[in-house]
Amino acid sequence: MQRHLISAADLTRDDAVLILDTAEEMARVADRPIKKLPTLRGRTIVNLFFEDSTRTRISFEAAEKRLSADVINFSAKGSSVSKGESLKDTAQTLEAMGVDAVVIRHGASGAPYRLATSGWIDAVVVNAGDGTHQHPTQALLDAFTMRRRLVGRDAGLGQDLAGKRITIVGDVLHSRVARSNVDLLHTLGAEVTLVAPPTLVPVGIETWPCEVSYDLDSTLPKSDAVMMLRVQRERMNAAFFPTEREYSRRYGLDGDRMARMPEHAIVMHPGPMVRGMEITAEVADSERCTVVEQVANGVSVRMAVLYLLLGGNEPAVSHARTTTEEK
Ligand code: NCD
Repeated sequence: MQRHLISAADLTRDDAVLILDTAEEMARVADRPIKKLPTLRGRTIVNLFFEDSTRTRISFEAAEKRLSADVINFSAKGSSVSKGESLKDTAQTLEAMGVDAVVIRHGASGAPYRLATSGWIDAVVVNAGDGTHQHPTQALLDAFTMRRRLVGRDAGLGQDLAGKRITIVGDVLHSRVARSNVDLLHTLGAEVTLVAPPTLVPVGIETWPCEVSYDLDSTLPKSDAVMMLRVQRERMNAAFFPTEREYSRRYGLDGDRMARMPEHAIVMHPGPMVRGMEITAEVADSERCTVVEQVANGVSVRMAVLYLLLGGNEPAVSHARTTTEEK
C-alpha cells in the first residue's frame, strides 16, 4: 500500500480488500462495551478541515480516538487561515508540532496531493475530500457497506464486489464521491452505471470505467445498489436544470421508483441528504436505505485506514482482541 491515501484510484484490488477485511476486524471493536484499542497510542493526528463537514469529521475523530491516538481538530473558520495564512504555512506549523498524520478536507482539488508531495511535512496524508476530485474513505466505506449487504459479513471476507451492479444517480459533475466510487468499484470488479441529467455529466466521461444512462427507470431493475447523490449547489456557478421539481421528477428516488428495484437491492447516500430533492422521506427512512449504516461503517473503515497507514508492523487488531479476551 502507498504511504498516503490521496485517491481511490491508487488502491489495488488487494489493498482495497485488505482495508475492507481490516475494517471488519475493527467493527468487532465497536460491538464491545469499551470501544478502544491501544494501537496508535502516542501518535498525533490532526484533522485539518477547510470545508464544512459533519459525518466525515466526526467519523475520523471517533476512529482516531478508538485507536488511542492524540487528536487535534482544526477547522479553517476561526483559525489563521481566515487571516490569509497559506496551506504551506499551516502545514509547516503542524510539522513543527510533530504530527504523525494529517487528515485533510479542502475545497481545492489536489490540495491533499500537494501536501503529501511538497516536502512541507513528513506526516502521512489522508484525503477526507478535495474539491470535486476524490473522497477515498467514502468510497471504501460504501464498498464495505455493499460487501456486507450484498455478499455477507463473514462470506465477504477476502472477497471483492465482482459482478455487482451499482447505479450512482445525480450530480456526478460536482461529486468527489462519484469519482472515488467509480474508481474503487471498478477495481473491485463491480459494474457501475452513472445516471444524471446531461448537464451534470462531466466532460470526458467516456474515459471513466463505467456506463452512462439518462434514464433512471430503466436502470433501477438492473441494480444491486442505487447510490443517490446530493445536488451540490455550493459548487455550482450556473443553472444546471430548470427547476428542483423537474430534477426530482426525473432523477429523484421515491417509493414508486424504489419498488422497481430488485428485492435484495439497497439504497445508499453519502449524506447530507436533501429530503424531497434527490430522495423522498419515505425512501430515506425505509429499511432498504443504508445511510445510517454507512456512517457506522465509516468509523471502522477509517480505523482500518489509519491503522494500516500508521500502525506499521505493530500487532494487528486480532492480537489486541486476543489479549483483551484473555484478560
Ligand atoms: C459528501 C462530500 O462531502 O463529498 N459527503 C460526505 O462526505 N459524507 C457529499 C456531499 O456533500 O453531498
